[in-house]
Amino acid sequence: MARDSRTTHLTEAVLGQRMTTRPEDRAGVSSEDLSGKTAVVTGSTSGIGRELALALGRLGAEVVLHGRHPERGQSVLEDLEAAGATGWFVRADLATRDGVAALADGVLELTDTVDVLCNNAGVFRRRGELTPDGVEYTFAVNHLAPFALTARLVPALRDAEDPRVVTTTSGAHTGGSIDFQGLRSGAAEGGWTAYSQSKLANVLFTRELDRRFPDVCATCFHPGFVPGSGFMRDLPRPLHWLGQAMGRIPLVGTTSAAGAATGVYLAASPDVECGRYYARCAPKDPAPAARDEETARKLWAVSRDLAGVTDPDAV
Ligand SMILES: NC(=O)c1ccc[n+]([C@@H]2O[C@H](COP(=O)([O-])OP(=O)(O)OC[C@H]3O[C@@H](n4cnc5c(N)ncnc54)[C@H](OP(=O)(O)O)[C@@H]3O)[C@@H](O)[C@H]2O)c1
Repeated sequence: MARDSRTTHLTEAVLGQRMTTRPEDRAGVSSEDLSGKTAVVTGSTSGIGRELALALGRLGAEVVLHGRHPERGQSVLEDLEAAGATGWFVRADLATRDGVAALADGVLELTDTVDVLCNNAGVFRRRGELTPDGVEYTFAVNHLAPFALTARLVPALRDAEDPRVVTTTSGAHTGGSIDFQGLRSGAAEGGWTAYSQSKLANVLFTRELDRRFPDVCATCFHPGFVPGSGFMRDLPRPLHWLGQAMGRIPLVGTTSAAGAATGVYLAASPDVECGRYYARCAPKDPAPAARDEETARKLWAVSRDLAGVTDPDAV
């Protein structure tokens, strides 16, 4: 199945038909039935998360959509319902502890059981800044929010028969390292340093979650380079345009729908290898820094502290 989906990616990229294939077809999971399951997809008001949410809805799941912009959420909700699926939208800003708590509360008001949690919301910030809680912004949204949200939803996940946590990371993790000193520093760096650090944290988190909670299947994936998404909006203009142009080159860029395929595969396929990093619907070895167990344990402890997780039974 994984090889078929890789072939699909390659063929379609070469033929220039990248817009036409749905993520679930691309991932080879169109026949999976997610009826009766509930999926939560963070950052589903646009880009990869939107495609991921719509695909899970078409497979039968009830979907909790999330983002900061209700009007965008409403538009995705309408698309979901037009596809015959049921969904809800919860608004929350994941840059703060309170925002993450509001999302967890919103989800738990809607459902007791979470079958699939897709930690997808993410940002790239050109400049370094601190959140109102005093944490480096990119790290807070891209890593701490998934950590804290998962912590709050672990009991609801454990109520599911086949619970999965799927986190959208990036190949950019290969250039990352965790600067533990800098996470609360006013001199926090933005740009690629902060982004690749946060994406490395996503992989370390996934592996450590899998080690600590073997009953919850944790995976993460690189969606590919998606220049059309909102993700690149904070790049300096020339780089933004360069990215848009590069993304149109077959085999370099991809679409949000194609980018979502691996996430849909990890949420729905019976063949998933838990604890692994994936790209193009196949497991891959992440960078050596992402396999460092000592860093993973330290990151876990620091994340608990920064996210204010006090429940000893939570992650
Ligand atoms: N695009 C790429 O080339 C690429 C490559 C590798 C990995 N990724 C990863 O893929 C994921 C999705 O990215 P995308 O390209 O689809 O980006 P996108 O189109 O900009 O979508 C980002 C989503 O995250 C939400 N979001 C952003 N900041 C938030 C915050 N502070 N609080 C709550 N929600 C927030 C946005 O919601 P609102 O708009 O409603 O605020 C939106 O729904 C990210 O984790 C990104 O790092 C992307």
